Amino acid sequence: MRPPVRFQTARLDLRPVEATDAPAIFSTYAGQVAPTRFMNFVRHAGVADSEAFARRCVDAWASGQAFPWAVTHRALGQFMGVVELRASPPKAELGYIFGDAFWGQGFASEAASAVVDWTMTQDSIFRIWATCHPDNAGSAGVLRNLGLTYEATLANWEERPQLGERAGASDVYAWVR
Ligand SMILES: CC(C)(COP(=O)(O)OP(=O)(O)OC[C@H]1O[C@@H](n2cnc3c(N)ncnc32)[C@H](O)[C@@H]1OP(=O)(O)O)[C@@H](O)C(=O)NCCC(=O)NCCS
Repeated sequence: MRPPVRFQTARLDLRPVEATDAPAIFSTYAGQVAPTRFMNFVRHAGVADSEAFARRCVDAWASGQAFPWAVTHRALGQFMGVVELRASPPKAELGYIFGDAFWGQGFASEAASAVVDWTMTQDSIFRIWATCHPDNAGSAGVLRNLGLTYEATLANWEERPQLGERAGASDVYAWVR
């Protein structure tokens, strides 16, 4: 399954993450305290970490292992964050992260819904799912906006370095055909 490389929404453009995005990835979210708080990766210590991440994104598109889109604000031409789909039929997992300067304006819901609406039309996909920290109200709001519903809380599901959790619980949300 190969999704479109580009999506356009009312305000946003989505296109594959490129190696040259590394400085923006670092300064917008990956090196920042608030956006990385609930994440399962270690906050980037420098642009080199974001360069390694951006290279993995380029490789992921090439191998089809995952599809990470950079989300940019069309009018401002500004990098805002990343939406990623990991498709493994019959299921596909969604992830997203945005810089905190852009929170609370519907941007994550708008960007991710372009990806999820397309994924829902794929014959090979019967489940679209995502996890979030039980206290991550913003992420739960995005998932509900996308049409995913709460399924369960998974104990000991993932490490969260910034919270000091070695095996933290996660809420799983899903859309099922
Ligand atoms: C989670 C995140 C993507 C939300 O981005 P956003 O652009 O602010 O989300 P939206 O504006 O589309 O909001 C989605 C819904 O959640 C609600 N919401 C957003 N932030 C909230 C918060 N802090 N507390 C409660 N509700 C919140 C919004 O009101 C909206 O609901 P509505 O449409 O019914 O009004 C953003 O906060 C982020 O990048 N966080 C860090 C990374 C992260 O946690 N990623 C998810 C990992 S599972």
